Amino acid sequence: MFVLRCIECGREYDRRAMIYQCPGCSGLLEVVFQLEDVQLSRAELERRPFNLWRYRELMPVENSTRVVSLNEGGTPLYRARALEEELGIKELYVKNEGANPTGSFKDRGMTVGVTKALELGARAVGCASTGNTSASLAAYAARAGIKCLVLLPAGKIAIGKLAQALLHGAQVIGIKANFDVALKLIRELCVKHNIYLLNSINPWRLEGQKSEAFEIADQLNFSAPDRVVVPVGNCGNISAIWKGFREFHELGLIDTLPVMTGVQAEGASPLVKAFKAGKSSIEPEPQPETIATAIRIGAPVNAPKALRALRESNGVAESVTDEEIIEAQKLLARRLGIGVEPASAASIAGLRKLLEAGEIARDERVVCVTTGHALKDPEVIFSRYEKPVEIEPSIEALEKVIYG
Ligand code: F0G
Repeated sequence: MFVLRCIECGREYDRRAMIYQCPGCSGLLEVVFQLEDVQLSRAELERRPFNLWRYRELMPVENSTRVVSLNEGGTPLYRARALEEELGIKELYVKNEGANPTGSFKDRGMTVGVTKALELGARAVGCASTGNTSASLAAYAARAGIKCLVLLPAGKIAIGKLAQALLHGAQVIGIKANFDVALKLIRELCVKHNIYLLNSINPWRLEGQKSEAFEIADQLNFSAPDRVVVPVGNCGNISAIWKGFREFHELGLIDTLPVMTGVQAEGASPLVKAFKAGKSSIEPEPQPETIATAIRIGAPVNAPKALRALRESNGVAESVTDEEIIEAQKLLARRLGIGVEPASAASIAGLRKLLEAGEIARDERVVCVTTGHALKDPEVIFSRYEKPVEIEPSIEALEKVIYG
């Protein structure tokens, strides 16, 4: 079974409580499983379909609950041979989360989070978002038949994500401020009006996302890679992935743990700065800026969990420029055929930088997580890549353009 526990003061709370932080000390909450009660063998797991619910015993939903699912998870882990040569590393994999139902890893969190919302009797769910969370929540709320409210930083959402939230019928409100401000507002609104909050401060949501670690281990024949590289914004996903590896390790399903590596965009890198300065908390950045709008976040709420994951895993945090992000996006797209949005490419850009700096050894087995699909943000492609040429419809004009 599982309990809800504060990561700061250790107090435990009823798992039916609708709380998002410790009522005692305001610390972040996490779900803690009594793993000695969990019976889960490799043989049993391998009998089940490959998706998130393969790991049901490690998902904190009550047995009687109807699960709200779009068949999320089960995403491909590609061996990235062409990039191994290009970057100079022995064994590289890409875990492509863009292959989830709404095109990002958020679906893993929402299948558990929206299921929890129903369990707790919520009639409406809400979030602030840089885009993907809102796209995913809108879809899962629609599937559950409950209302969805999303607050977005006006004008700073990639068009594909905004389209998804609208398509699935969420009430979409643009806030004339950045994500951090929108998150503050929705947190206040949710408490005041009894709306269930599904940002990553919600500990149940992160339980779904820890399945990224389960799947990576599963796909590597029940072993952990040496390192997992993750793009970081609000710091939820890297914390969730680390938790997943720790649980598999504690259950004896893997023998080793990976080094967690978080990558932020240079213009929005409070975690990297805190990590490099050896600080135990972050300094919020009031004006985060990057082409990777998904991770344009200056005050990540889950920073304490991410700093803990880095500390416990002997990890690293690094930042990359927008140019390095676009270069990495191009590499993924043109050398591997994997189309990702800019934030996702930060993992490959970070890997490249850390390899060049000698921080990552060239004989490591590394998994880079690519978090969202290329079609989320077509505008970046139109503004940063070659434009199509337009010609008169004649064979001569065509040949001229192709052969010069
Ligand atoms: N990559 C993508 C594509 C994202 O959408 C996000 C977060 C991240 C990485 C970072 O994950 O926040 O857990 O550290 N997007 C959120 C959103 C904030 O609202 O869609 P994180």
